[in-house]
This record gives sequence, structure tokens and C-alpha cells, in this order.
Amino acid sequence: MAVQVSDDGHVLTLDDGDGAARRFHAIWLRDNAWDDATRAPGNGQRLIALRDIPPDTRITSAAVDGERLTVGFAPEGKTVAYDIDWLRSHAYDRAQPQARGWTGDTISTWDSGLMGAVPVGAFGAVRQDPAALRDWLAQVRRFGFGKLTGGPVEPGALLQVARLFGFVRETNYGVYFEVRTEVNPTNLAYTGLGLQAHTDNPYRDPVPTMQILYCLENSAEGGENMVVDGFRAAQRLRQENPAWFDLLTQYCARYEYAGEAGVCLRSRRPMIELAPDGELVAVRFNNRSTAAITDVPFDRMADYYAAYRRLGEIIDDTAMEVTFKLAPGECFIVDNTRVLHARKGYSGSGKRWLQGCYPDKDGMLSTLAALEQRAEPWTIAA
Ligand code: FE2
Repeated sequence: MAVQVSDDGHVLTLDDGDGAARRFHAIWLRDNAWDDATRAPGNGQRLIALRDIPPDTRITSAAVDGERLTVGFAPEGKTVAYDIDWLRSHAYDRAQPQARGWTGDTISTWDSGLMGAVPVGAFGAVRQDPAALRDWLAQVRRFGFGKLTGGPVEPGALLQVARLFGFVRETNYGVYFEVRTEVNPTNLAYTGLGLQAHTDNPYRDPVPTMQILYCLENSAEGGENMVVDGFRAAQRLRQENPAWFDLLTQYCARYEYAGEAGVCLRSRRPMIELAPDGELVAVRFNNRSTAAITDVPFDRMADYYAAYRRLGEIIDDTAMEVTFKLAPGECFIVDNTRVLHARKGYSGSGKRWLQGCYPDKDGMLSTLAALEQRAEPWTIAA
């Protein structure tokens, strides 16, 4: 490992000798110091604000000793030690993201090809074994959904699932809600009644970030659950027609729900949401609660509708869907910012009783990250 400092002291370069030289700015290094005066030793929180760091901060010395880099800063006259591996993993001197609509490396998009490999965990195992919980949650993060089997068949059991990794968001539908249907074979109107794949509650801001749907009874024929990767659908639209993809990212749709007394939920967000650097952040798609769209310029509205229609066609394409049926005591969890879900039509006699709730994704990701940081001993123990 070689280190170099630019003549003006503004840039430090670490060279691993593998052709991957990484540059760091003096102000960035100083701001990311981990000494006791900069970061609280107990919780790691930063003790200073940027205003406490002189704007003309520059590097006066730099030396490597094994996996340790020591840097001197002027005008503070301060010396800070860095873990070189930490710098490696936080380097920002790299190629900038690809095309609009990119996803990070913890995410894999999918289509119906995933059908034979639905991510699944066992309730008993994930409850008792942190490594099993970690592995299941990592799958949920990667694919945006996952099944859990072998849970108790009792009302409210879905809250036990949520408590494995986080916290449930209460809404006007309650802490959890009933999804209950009795199929009447004499009434054909109730047969074959499917729902278009959708994300839940796009009229909320923020939307519910995850949903658990927990099966307590499912004796009706059909009634499978179906999921579609909204990120893959968005990426397919981009491949087919980049201009249409751009339209759905650049203009806000409107969503509304006012279906019960005292409730009037409204939001204004794009159907495909990107971060400023083009990362795919969220998909909102729900035919039932899309309100009048009024934020698209007149000259672009016809094209917007063509793009909206095409996105719906892609979502409806059976080549995009993964289906599975839940037995009592089974549930699935879905990332509601990404993966659309639907119920297929059902027929015959029987009952279908599910319960749903909305745990928050940040809590799930937090639990997963904490489990991953402690992964090694469990890996060895397993
Ligand atoms: Fe739903």
C-alpha cells in the first residue's frame, strides 16, 4: 500500500498496487475521522459539525503502517489514524452509476423464471436461529419478497412474524387487517375474481414499506397469490422505450383514498421513482387508487398515458409473475416499494382468510445489517 499527497494537500491517494488507486479529499478525510474528539466512542455518533472543520483544511503528512494510515491536518495541527480497510470499503473514487434505473448489488430483479426458487424460510428456524433469520431476510432484501412456512394458525400470528425483525405501522386499517372472503358457488359473480397486481396504499406518504399477508384458512380452489417485480417491470419498460420510462419517472401521478368516513389520504409521487443519481427507488402502481393525474404537461399527457398503459401490460404479462398458494400457517412478506402483489381468481366452495399488516422496511434492513455484522460466529457454529 502506497500513499501520496497532492502538492496543495487537498487530495490523498491510496494505491493498493492492483491498479485501483483511490483518491480522497482532505475535507472528506477530516470529516470522517474516528478519533474520540470527532466521534463518540460509545455510539459512534459525530460530535462535531462541519462548521467546526476549517474550510481550508489540507493534509500535511501521511504515512502507512500495515493496515493503518496516519494523516496530519492543517490548520488544526491534528493527526488522525484510519483503518485502511474502512477507507477501501468507503472509497468514492470510482465509476459513477450506470443508466437511469440501476439497482444496487444487494438486489436481483426477476421474472417468472424465479417460480421454482421462491425464497422461503421456516418459522421455527428463523425464530430460533439468528443465521436462519439472517439468510431469510437477505433473500427478502434481494428479491423483494419471501415466504415463511410452519407458523401458528391463530389470529394475530402475523405480528409474531413482524416482531422477528421490526415494527408494524398502524394505519386507519388498524394494526392489522382482515382479508376474508367466503366463496359462494351459487353466485358466479364471485368466481374468477382476480385483482390486478398492485402496490398497496400508494396514497400514503410514505407508503407502507412492507406487507405481511398471513394465511389462516385457504380451502377455496385457486386464490393463489401472485407477485411481480416492479423493478424488473420498470427496467423492461426502459429497455423497450426509454422515453416512456423517463415520462413515468419525471412526472408525478396522484393517488387518493377516501373510502371511509374521516379519511382522505392523498399523495403526489411518480409511478417510477428514481434517486437523483438514477437509482431505482420505488414503484407505485395501483389501478384502484390512482386519482386524476394533473401534473403532466398537456403536450405530454397522451404519451404519459401510453407509457402508463405499457407499464400495466408488462405487469400483466404472465412471463413476469411468480405464483404460489399459501396454506394455513404460511405467510409471505413483500417489499411494497418494489414488488406488486395480487390475488388470482378463485372458484368453487371454501373460505379464504388472510390477515395483513405493514411492518417498516427500515427496521427489517436494520435487523438484517446487525445480523450480518455479527455473521461470522454463527457461520462457524452452523
Ligand atoms: Fe394489496
